[in-house]
Amino acid sequence: MITRKTLLVANWKMNMTVGQSSVLVANLHKTIAGRRDIEVVLAPSFLALQPLSLQIDRRRFRLAAQNAFHKDAGGFTGEVSFSMLQDLVHYVIIGHSERRIFFSETNEMIRDKVAACIRNGLRPILCIGETSAERSEGHAKQVVHDQIITALSNVTSEDLHSIVIAYEPVWAITTFGGEIAKPGDMKGMIDYIRSQIRDLYGDVAARSVRILYGGSVDEHNARSYLEIEGCDGALVGSASLNYHKFSGIVEAAYRHNRREK
Ligand code: PGA
Repeated sequence: MITRKTLLVANWKMNMTVGQSSVLVANLHKTIAGRRDIEVVLAPSFLALQPLSLQIDRRRFRLAAQNAFHKDAGGFTGEVSFSMLQDLVHYVIIGHSERRIFFSETNEMIRDKVAACIRNGLRPILCIGETSAERSEGHAKQVVHDQIITALSNVTSEDLHSIVIAYEPVWAITTFGGEIAKPGDMKGMIDYIRSQIRDLYGDVAARSVRILYGGSVDEHNARSYLEIEGCDGALVGSASLNYHKFSGIVEAAYRHNRREK
């Protein structure tokens, strides 16, 4: 049987100074115990990655970058490459809707980032999801399909195991309105994404790939998303900035995995 370990990712976005990040990590160390069946990943700002890599207990937390540039080095003022992140992080979030919308990242740019991420031995957390207009026009599946096909076009079946997919409907993300998505509706999309992976890479890959849900997940609703069959965790924005809320989400995942109330 293929088991997929629950993955909870805290996307801190452009929030907190290095000092504030360090305080939050110290608090998370007090409130989140190491759980063998749950992987907890923190994605602070670039600046905080280096100090936090020294501070974190690696048995409890892993680090992710929120973005990187697809070239390894060169004249690209202001950018940070995947190769620079190699010793610091396990994962890199790629194609977050804020990057697609505010920084005009295209599916092709995201494809190049996914390839660079894998080439540098890091694991992509590939974000996909439709806008509310695309959903109301009935195009949600088509949008997600195009995002997957392009982003993975250079990914071989050997490399697929390193990829995590985060399904985040844009309209459900706090930044873009934060409508609370119905878990039942999300199941259809998660099933659809897994079926796309099956079509591209076969059944074993489809059963192995982890698919997360993201969009206004908090300590109260986390379990309802984790209970969706085929949902392997959550990408958490706002609620991950508060250690009570984020530890509540980790606790909800722990109870869910044990089928406890
Ligand atoms: P949110 O953000 O939890 O604040 O909606 C999720 C995300 O953007 O990844």
